[in-house]
Amino acid sequence: MIETQELTRRYGETLVVDRVSLTLPKQGLTAIIGANGAGKSTFLGMISRLTAASAGAALIDGLDVAKTPTDALAQRLAILRQDNAIAARVTVRDLVSFGRYPHSKGRLTADDHARIDDALAFLELEPFSDRYLDEVSGGQRQRAHIAMVLAQDTDYVLLDEPLNNLDMRHARAMMSLLRRAVDERSRTVVVVLHDINFASCYADHIVAMRDGRVVAAGPPDHIVTTATLRAIYDIDVEVVTVRGYRTVHYYR
Ligand SMILES: Nc1ncnc2c1ncn2[C@@H]1O[C@H](COP(=O)(O)OP(=O)(O)OP(=O)(O)O)[C@@H](O)[C@H]1O
Ligand SMILES: [Mg+2]
Repeated sequence: MIETQELTRRYGETLVVDRVSLTLPKQGLTAIIGANGAGKSTFLGMISRLTAASAGAALIDGLDVAKTPTDALAQRLAILRQDNAIAARVTVRDLVSFGRYPHSKGRLTADDHARIDDALAFLELEPFSDRYLDEVSGGQRQRAHIAMVLAQDTDYVLLDEPLNNLDMRHARAMMSLLRRAVDERSRTVVVVLHDINFASCYADHIVAMRDGRVVAAGPPDHIVTTATLRAIYDIDVEVVTVRGYRTVHYYR
């Protein structure tokens, strides 16, 4: 379980995450939605300790992340950042192998290699695995970063806009993969999404943020409504149920 207690981040006088207290159940897929600047990345950053909290706490299985040793945290939780700019000239396979570092400390075992191969295959990266990151397309690079996060093999997986740069086929494959990680491997996945339809079809739970606060949280059927989406984005959309899932439509 991930629990936040009045988690807060300020920059100067500006509150960008404002006393957020949330419980995200174990073994589920939670989507975080909200407009640009709502505080989604900052919130995820504090849960994973990439960003220091100004006040409050984040707990993973009861452990305060601010007080948990880095190795212990990295064996429980992996995060895909929104802007993963790896400047070094590393190959796709090297990048994915970094995901094993918390386990192997640089000495890769046969089991580590097997997991790296598994992650490369899962993300359909085998044809590019020996290319440098600046020699693959944006979507292939994004998939390589996701493979690294999955290779870390943690119970908790946080992904900040993993669908960036992915085409329709790979975006859907990514959501199915996250769903399977929850259903078949009992993972807890928290994912920032701008595509409400993916959130609606794949998530168990949606958290909607606005101006640093949670304005709504619940199952997709409660969140994906014209009124709630207006409260989050200030636009009117049409919500249509297709095959049992609420889907959002907007027109010119
Ligand atoms: N280092 C910083 N210094 C000052 N303000 C910052 C800093 N980082 C983020 N902010 C501000 O905090 C607010 C929340 O940013 P955050 O990146 O969490 O938003 P977000 O919901 O992830 O948005 P997006 O959908 O665009 O990724 C924004 O207004 C942003 O400008
Ligand atoms: Mg963000």
